[in-house]
Amino acid sequence: MGSYKKIFVLTGAGISAESGIPTFRDPGGVWEKYDLTEVATPEGFRRNPDLVHEFYNQRRKELLKVKPNPAHIALAELEKHYPGEVLVVTQNVDDLHERAGTRNLIHMHGELLKVHCELCGQVFRETGEIFTHTPCPACGKAGGLRPYVVWFGEMPLHLEEIYEALKKCDLFVAIGSSGTVYPAAGFVEVARGSGAYCLEINLKPAENAHLFHEHRYGPASEKVREWVKELLEGV
Ligand code: NAD
Ligand code: APR
Repeated sequence: MGSYKKIFVLTGAGISAESGIPTFRDPGGVWEKYDLTEVATPEGFRRNPDLVHEFYNQRRKELLKVKPNPAHIALAELEKHYPGEVLVVTQNVDDLHERAGTRNLIHMHGELLKVHCELCGQVFRETGEIFTHTPCPACGKAGGLRPYVVWFGEMPLHLEEIYEALKKCDLFVAIGSSGTVYPAAGFVEVARGSGAYCLEINLKPAENAHLFHEHRYGPASEKVREWVKELLEGV
């Protein structure tokens, strides 16, 4: 695999699937059970905030019951022992990378265990339930709290920092993402355009699979562990 100085890892729902969190677009996925336009758009939230809070309250409760799997743990080990820089950019709103020990981490689609007050701008950690009329702990006003997640049509977080890292990385790895949601689905082109070697780890080819140099298909728990072992042994 060679020796890389800057590794950029993009993760999607697939890395958390074996922890028991359903993905979005696989059979039985979240978007089969829920209408994306109702629970994951700003318009849906304005139409029916009770339903949107109920959806995220449920996902928050489920998240507290699951654990990081060997794929999350292997990435944390890579960051700890690899002599070069390892950055993990995740589309996931779960906290399984942090719990596994990853520190150099960007949540581009927000975090499920945080809420945001649209009236005062504060962001808080929240592990319990939020309702439409729950008052904000900082400003005390009711009606302004929303999940700290990026909905369709909204701007993902930390994009400037992410594009800087994409241009500088020499290895780009996408793990467990369907490659359908932009801008994340386009990151491989930016990295490749800057000369990075691009590896896809997934159960099956993503929509953008043709843009990668190498593919490793199988469960993330196995494939990520194997890949990390190779990189660390090659040091
Ligand atoms: P998206 O709706 O999630 O929007 C991405 C956001 O990122 C947009 O706000 C855009 O302005 C911003 N963005 C995109 N490229 C950027 C860049 N280079 N720099 C900075 N900001 C950038 O994404 P999408 O591509 O429109 O949709 C992805 C998938 O989601 C598609 O499969 C689509 O069918 C589905 N979708 C469904 C709905 C819906 O049903 N309401 C809405 C949007 C998307
Ligand atoms: N190991 C590896 N890959 C897996 C596994 C597994 N055990 N299980 C599923 N996958 C793969 C699937 O083959 C699929 O390519 O994970 C991918 C999951 O794709 P999506 O459900 O589309 O998830 P993701 O790409 O993260 O979605 C992007 O869409 O709805 C929005 O904001 C949400 O961040 C999310 C974004």
